[in-house]
Amino acid sequence: MSITDYALDGVRGLTAYETGRPVEEIAREFGVQRISKLASNENPLGCSPQADAALRAGLDWARYPDGGGYALKAALSAHHGGFDTAGITLGNGSNDVLELLARCFLAPGRNAVASAHAFAVYALATQACGATLREVPALGPDSTQPRGHDLAGFAAHIDADTRLVFVANPNNPTGTWAEPAAIEALLQQIPEHCLLVLDEAYREYQRPEERPPVEDWLARYPNLVVTRTFSKAYGLASLRIGYALSSPEVADLLNRIRQPFNTNAAAQRAALAALADTDFLARSVAVNAQGMAQLEAGLGGMGLHCLPSRANFVCVDMGEPGRPLFEALLRQGVIVRPVGGYGLPNFLRISIGTAEENTHCLEALATVRGG
Ligand SMILES: Cc1ncc(COP(=O)(O)O)c(C=O)c1O
Repeated sequence: MSITDYALDGVRGLTAYETGRPVEEIAREFGVQRISKLASNENPLGCSPQADAALRAGLDWARYPDGGGYALKAALSAHHGGFDTAGITLGNGSNDVLELLARCFLAPGRNAVASAHAFAVYALATQACGATLREVPALGPDSTQPRGHDLAGFAAHIDADTRLVFVANPNNPTGTWAEPAAIEALLQQIPEHCLLVLDEAYREYQRPEERPPVEDWLARYPNLVVTRTFSKAYGLASLRIGYALSSPEVADLLNRIRQPFNTNAAAQRAALAALADTDFLARSVAVNAQGMAQLEAGLGGMGLHCLPSRANFVCVDMGEPGRPLFEALLRQGVIVRPVGGYGLPNFLRISIGTAEENTHCLEALATVRGG
């Protein structure tokens, strides 16, 4: 026996989350100069100049941050139409709040429900608590949302031991989305002992009329938790800041188990400035829409199909195993993400970059597929 045999069964059964390969590593390994990192759904424009300026103004790094995040919560409350700050939980990325939810509600003998091909952290957070993840089969190839969440099928997987139901809208890595009416129909079926966690990491990329009315739902459905992030459209991935909106009662539970200073001062300050910079956000969303059209057209021209996406990436059916193509693309200086671990071995997930990065990606793909 080794010490690892004594770890929780759920933990021993896990595979570590695969992050995008860093640019420096690819430069070192393959000696390439031109590198386009399209692997982590980051904002290719960087972050808001206002957020950048706020960071450069300096902070007293020797002091602990405001553990309660007073100023950021006040701004978020205004952003969400006067949402009660007692229902806002800040996190070290939205990942942090997903884990806090799991730690509050999951344990051996309990389960969480999520779709096949859903964001990997749902399974990681669930199994790390010794609970099991019940996977709902995804929608079939003939659906308007192939590989997307089958929300109508979720209820059949919820039982007396279910505590969390994760819905990613839009979902990573598929990019697929759910119509608000379908999410609300599921909300109405959520039993009292269970929370629906609506993960809206990519919400900003949806058109306003496509976005669910979550503030209205939160007022009416106490078992709803909505998670958001500053990592994507706001361009603050490296600072790690996200949040959850919930009832004050649920936020109070999350607050009891979070680290006292789970979000740092730089992240709080940058997020505050980013929230106010609506011009940067609009530009980010516009560049994403153009880039998505460019990539979809270029890929289509090569006979490759993307799953429908309302996020800042496309999930492309390569018609052959994705991992060797991913490795060949690295040699061309293009970093994308193989998604075999998501049950999509023939797909690659490509984040939308600038026009130049997208062109680089399309040229590199033509090279590796032609050769
Ligand atoms: C669907 C989804 N939820 C949550 C996250 C977590 O983001 P962060 O922890 O950076 O807020 C991601 C990141 O890729 C994601 O794709």
